Amino acid sequence: MLRKGLISSNVLLFIGALLFVIFMLYFEMHVLQLEGNNDKLASEVALIRAQLQANEKSSLRAPIIGGGAGGGPLIEIPDVDLKQRKDLVVIYNRVPKTGSTSFINVAYDLCRPNNYHVLHINVTGNMHVLSLANQARFAYNVSKWEAIKPALYHGHVAFVDFARFGISTHPVWINLIRRPLDRLVSYYYFLRYGDDFRPYLVRRKHGDKMTFDECVSKRQPDCHPDNMWLQVPFFCGHTAACWEPGNKWALDEAKRNLINHFLLVGVTEEMEDFIRMLEVTLPTFFQGASKHYLSSKKSHLRKTVQKAPPSSSTVKKIQESKVWQMEQELYDFALAQFHFMRKRTLGQSATNRSSQFTTERSQQFMYEKIRPK
Ligand SMILES: *[C@@H]1O[C@H](CO)[C@@H](O)[C@H](O)[C@H]1NC(C)=O
Ligand SMILES: *[C@@H]1O[C@H](CO)[C@@H](O)[C@H](O)[C@H]1NC(C)=O
Ligand SMILES: *[C@@H]1O[C@H](CO)[C@@H](O)[C@H](O)[C@H]1NC(C)=O
Repeated sequence: MLRKGLISSNVLLFIGALLFVIFMLYFEMHVLQLEGNNDKLASEVALIRAQLQANEKSSLRAPIIGGGAGGGPLIEIPDVDLKQRKDLVVIYNRVPKTGSTSFINVAYDLCRPNNYHVLHINVTGNMHVLSLANQARFAYNVSKWEAIKPALYHGHVAFVDFARFGISTHPVWINLIRRPLDRLVSYYYFLRYGDDFRPYLVRRKHGDKMTFDECVSKRQPDCHPDNMWLQVPFFCGHTAACWEPGNKWALDEAKRNLINHFLLVGVTEEMEDFIRMLEVTLPTFFQGASKHYLSSKKSHLRKTVQKAPPSSSTVKKIQESKVWQMEQELYDFALAQFHFMRKRTLGQSATNRSSQFTTERSQQFMYEKIRPK
């Protein structure tokens, strides 16, 4: 009994050892196979990296490398070269007396080095609204005129919604707005004294020495608050209600269009940051613009001559008007949006006036969990 048991336990031991060896062999093979996979993976990663580097050669900056929030690995994205957008059309529907001339001169200076076209939209009779047929021609021509692209169009024309004309390629709209009372005062003196841009040109009200304060106290039409109703309709567009001073729907529509159809709306008072933002977002056109704007004398161009600031009682009187309040509401809305985007877009030098160089925050997005593998 004892011997029999001893033998069977030896046999069991032997079988156990054999199983262990087989298992070890299998395990070893598996590890070797994994290592093989690993080598393959490493060589594929190297290949992808080489491709990424080739793509990145002309790009702006290196993307972030880091751990993903979900714990998985993050895939580096090659920085997309925004300068390559050769089909871009930008429309700047400038509002009169917002400092637009200084800005557009930068665009003219850069069109040759940056290789794009600038076109002025000259609307007959200084009208800001086009006929329906003209809107259709304009929208069609702008979208289909390939030879002129990339192109920047500018002119005193209200917003045109290209989608209404069955055109699927939309231009990028940009604009600049100014504090409504400042704009009105500037326009008032501009008609009387002209500016330093074309000093010898005789303006409509040349010779009239009445100050803005006198005009307000005498209730003259030139300084009537309704004259401020211009930035709202420029964003609102080609609808009848847009051009009714004080129309509430027009203000709401202007805000909606500003958000839905305009890439960027800056303010005259912060032109430098507007140009910095354009430089990092639309480098096709604005690469080098900040430096150019600051180093050339463009930032001081076209100042209206003889501008006395309005008295506090004049300001108070104007601020009582519904039109001022609504125009100011649009301005404040645009300013808040501009500051919101600026904070998220520009790096340190946005607030450093002595720095001439545009800095951009590094890349803020990347891809992960890509399936199937
Ligand atoms: C627009 O065209 C008209 C007619 O050719 C011309 O007299 C006018 O000066 C132009 N306007 C501007 C702002 O260049
Ligand atoms: C757009 O208008 C310009 C000027 O009239 C013209 O030269 C050009 O051929 C037009 N382009 C298209 C695609 O219609
Ligand atoms: C602003 O920029 C200049 C030049 O780039 C630098 O020397 C200076 O230290 C900066 N100032 C601040 C407050 O960051």
